[in-house]
Amino acid sequence: GTVVLAYSGGLDTSCILVWLKEQGYDVITFLANIGQDEDFEAARKKAESLGAKKVFIEDLRSEFVEDFIWPTVQANAVYEDRYLLGTAVARPCISRRQVEIARREGAQFVSHGATGKGNDQIRFELTCYALYPEVEIIAPWRIPEFYNRFRGRKDLMEYAQQHGIPVPVTPRAPWSMDANLMHISYESGILENPKSHAPADLYLMTKNPENSPNAPDVLEIEFRNGVPVKVTNEKEGTSKDSPLEIFSYLNVIGGKHGVGRIDIVENRFIGMKSRGIYETPGGTILLKAHLDIETFTMDKEVRRIKQGLGIKFSELVYNGFWYSPECDFVRHCIAKSQDNVEGKVQLSVFKGQVYILGRESPKSLYNEELVSMDVQGDYDPCDASGFIRINAVRLREHHRLQGLSGTN
Ligand code: ARG
Ligand code: SIN
Repeated sequence: GTVVLAYSGGLDTSCILVWLKEQGYDVITFLANIGQDEDFEAARKKAESLGAKKVFIEDLRSEFVEDFIWPTVQANAVYEDRYLLGTAVARPCISRRQVEIARREGAQFVSHGATGKGNDQIRFELTCYALYPEVEIIAPWRIPEFYNRFRGRKDLMEYAQQHGIPVPVTPRAPWSMDANLMHISYESGILENPKSHAPADLYLMTKNPENSPNAPDVLEIEFRNGVPVKVTNEKEGTSKDSPLEIFSYLNVIGGKHGVGRIDIVENRFIGMKSRGIYETPGGTILLKAHLDIETFTMDKEVRRIKQGLGIKFSELVYNGFWYSPECDFVRHCIAKSQDNVEGKVQLSVFKGQVYILGRESPKSLYNEELVSMDVQGDYDPCDASGFIRINAVRLREHHRLQGLSGTN
């Protein structure tokens, strides 16, 4: 049969490519460009030289931003109060194209190099099953003949040498990385000890705020329907207005000022805790800016419901359910909530922080006259007395009961 392998160009998936061939499969490799720093042409040559029947390398950066990152901006998506989901949102983007290729090429099988302990296997495979129900999945890291043969990096290197797979010459960082437009994540290896600190040279996307510039960048971000449509750096006189350019520019500015670093222990779907380090510079700026324009333009009670949906959405995305009826439903509700989320937010980016400076919107629900301490407006302060007394009914009853039971 034919298998479409999600190929990274690295040692693991190169060994998987050759191993699949050994098992009798025709192998098509698929490498998605989602903004990681990679020599794509070198990866193409490598896959071809290892006997891939066909090699697909596809630039998915724009669709990654528009179809996957933008919904997380609208949702203020954050997993367990801290993680901005940079890996989790990339998986359905990659797998969507992978199954498209599999269908087009008449391939019954898809394969990936995710381990049997992580979240990524779930995200890849749920997406594949949701979009190509008849597909068969080959996950070598869960197949005993494979993982018993490759018990460590040494085995992979040996196999590579025997099978003409170019072995990496530069020594590998003692942790694993996953990079895309939205973030870089670091985990495993020396990071598995949750109390050992990350070395200073780990971070590739952001500067250490201790060494970041001593002057801020001041930006204006314009939103429509809860997504950015323009970012302007007034001092530099530059602006960007395509999704990919906007997001990439925010990464540059956030990176320059050390925005968006976190070091956390999180709960994997599979039930274990893992330690991860993430840098999400552009995503962090957008989260702060979006929260500001959203609260400015959205009804209070709609916002409360929408906030809960955002948490639900984040869990679904983390757990790999992007393509599920419930996530589709939640995503549409969230998108609907963004109808009036438009306007401009001015902010300063400085020393690892995002400082909101001001905002304006044609859809603002802010009423300067209503809230002002200096103007009466269409509001009678006497009404507040009754409002407070009625809210106090319950509190007074509670006190009465406490008095009866003699406690305080
Ligand atoms: N723990 C993060 C997540 O579940 C990052 C996973 C990183 N994946 C990787 N293949 N290195 O989203
Ligand atoms: C992996 O196990 O392949 C990476 C970590 C994860 O998916 O959570």
